[in-house]
Amino acid sequence: MLMRLDKYLSEAGAASRRDCKQMIREGRVTVDGVVIREPERKIDSDAVILADGREVKPTGPVLLMLHKPAGYLTAVEDAVWKTVMELLPAEYSNAGLKPIGRLDAETEGLLLFTNDGDLAHRILAPKRKIWKTYYAEHTGVATEEDVQAFSEGLTLKDGTQCLSAELRILSEGKAEIRVCEGKYHQVRRMMASRHLKVTYLRRTAVGKAELGDLPIGQTKLLRPDEIEDGLSFTT
Ligand code: URA
Repeated sequence: MLMRLDKYLSEAGAASRRDCKQMIREGRVTVDGVVIREPERKIDSDAVILADGREVKPTGPVLLMLHKPAGYLTAVEDAVWKTVMELLPAEYSNAGLKPIGRLDAETEGLLLFTNDGDLAHRILAPKRKIWKTYYAEHTGVATEEDVQAFSEGLTLKDGTQCLSAELRILSEGKAEIRVCEGKYHQVRRMMASRHLKVTYLRRTAVGKAELGDLPIGQTKLLRPDEIEDGLSFTT
């Protein structure tokens, strides 16, 4: 199959599309031993492609679960913070994995990664109702009125409207929250709108996939149907 060289490299996880173009123009990429400097050059996917002397091969679709520790930014790179990418095993460094959604730096728990952009979109889309479950510790006392307000769909302090969500009171200062969308700081802001300040937050499940006893900082491969029946890779 013929494919643009820059597209092949970026889809194989060598670098972003822009950086791949740059790399090619700088003469750092060879195709069957010949330096190619045109990012748009069509190449055969069976060709041997080297970038900076290392072979680049497309990997298959991957879905990975990480038990994220606090103190890591959900970003592909950052000039200041440690990022969640640093916690992925080296064998996936060329797989083109990206986090699916985000957890705040101080939030712990289940964070998914994939190189299948369409799968990521389907896991995040609120209308698919793939529930994200959180365990929270908070100040203040949650009541049945708070449970009702979550279920009716909260309005945040800045006017943002949330979809119906679940608040389950576990014991004083401890709760489980389930949401099917991923707005910025959503759980903390939902709780704050009910005068409950979150002091600790951990995501424990996404759809059917649970964090279980996966040690903090460790990863585990998943199949898409472990998140939701019928969910599959698209690439
Ligand atoms: N909601 C939050 O407030 N923070 C997270 O990290 C995830 C959901």
